[in-house]
Amino acid sequence: MRHDDPRLPTSPGFWRSPLRGTWFTSVLGLVLLVGITVLFVTGLLSYAAYNPDLAPVNDQTPDKGALGFYLFSWPTDPYWLYRVTQGLHVTLGIALVPVLLAKLWSVVPKLFTLPPARSLAHALERVSLLLLVGGGLFEFTTGVLNVQLDYLFPGSFYPLHFYGAWVFFAAFLAHAALKTPAALRAVRGRRPDEEESVAPRPDPPTVSRRGALRFVGGASLLLLVTTAGQSIGGVWRRTALLAPHGGADPGSGPNGFQINKTAAYAGIDTQETGEEAWRLVVTGLGGRTVRLSRTQLLQLPQHSAALPIACVEGWSTADQWWRGVRLRDLAALVGYDGDPPDVLVESLQRHGAFRRAALRANQVADPRSLLALQVNGEDLSPDHGYPARVIVPAAPGVLNTKWVARMTFGDL
Ligand code: HEM
Repeated sequence: MRHDDPRLPTSPGFWRSPLRGTWFTSVLGLVLLVGITVLFVTGLLSYAAYNPDLAPVNDQTPDKGALGFYLFSWPTDPYWLYRVTQGLHVTLGIALVPVLLAKLWSVVPKLFTLPPARSLAHALERVSLLLLVGGGLFEFTTGVLNVQLDYLFPGSFYPLHFYGAWVFFAAFLAHAALKTPAALRAVRGRRPDEEESVAPRPDPPTVSRRGALRFVGGASLLLLVTTAGQSIGGVWRRTALLAPHGGADPGSGPNGFQINKTAAYAGIDTQETGEEAWRLVVTGLGGRTVRLSRTQLLQLPQHSAALPIACVEGWSTADQWWRGVRLRDLAALVGYDGDPPDVLVESLQRHGAFRRAALRANQVADPRSLLALQVNGEDLSPDHGYPARVIVPAAPGVLNTKWVARMTFGDL
């Protein structure tokens, strides 16, 4: 069989679309250049927001080594910070899917060219393209599956998406450095429909290049408007047609806002959370320990804060009014009168990830960080973490531990 047999994808004659050409590829490439850079930065921020270097319990990628070089103390201001960074990460990731697919479509003939490598330099370039295309498809696929709560892949999502991002972005940077000058020249200089098609024997066009681009942009826009509502929360959630709506129904009333893990799913036994049985165990300086019932917690000074829950999967609630005891007041009860230290919070939860989570000193010190007992004027519902849950400004949802059983300040 010959490589120039037009029935084979390895032959340029196989590819007939008149749209393929540097202009079309370049416009899509430039959109990806901006979009994927924002995705990479917001992804790294999301990782920092987990406090991964604080305690082994928070870190799903303990072997990250030098890749954690940039980690910093995640701030508590502005209180909607994670809602914005993660909402952007997930919404943009979904909206860029048509652009990525169109970009790949526009260059697919090049992936089949033979011989596979003409020289060592060409071979290296093709390996980097393999990492670019494979890494891109891998990152988008794992991300979308995770947002849909579809954990199909083996092992945990975090290490896969984290290490995959570094491989993909390294290949992406190399590709962008090589192609951006040509891409800029192509979009500046030429009228799109004057450019020759890369196909040697193109079919007659059924749509212009601009028309094809509008189609891709329209698909992205459609995904954007049917996704963004989940990050805005409140009534806008109803517009998020693509967000997963199955599973836990939050119902209506003061506790009627979104839940990820229900009490039943987490294996919470109502016997353990009743007034007689449940005690919060707080340990601090020199092992000093206090045990508090819910009634005793309600007798401590109560404070309120309006804060959202912002999940790593991109959804957020509108601000809710939480009421309870300040974390820093609990630290003071066990000997930390001045600046409070980090804290390890442990849940009664039996199933699922994040049964324990560590918070940083700056998060404990914020006066809006609460061990909440009530929300929107009512006791927490079992699904929102009754008898008590943590709520911290700007922190990812998973650090806001529900059904809290134990808090250990200092010495994590
Ligand atoms: C997910 C990101 C991307 C993927 C998967 C991707 C993939 C590819 C592939 C496989 C090729 C063919 C390589 C060859 O054999 O010549 C290519 C070509 C090209 N890419 Fe990308 N690319 C991406 C992002 C970008 C970006 C960010 C830019 C520019 C800013 C860009 C601009 C170009 C240009 C100008 C070409 C050459 C087109 C031609 O020769 O007609 N790409 N891309």
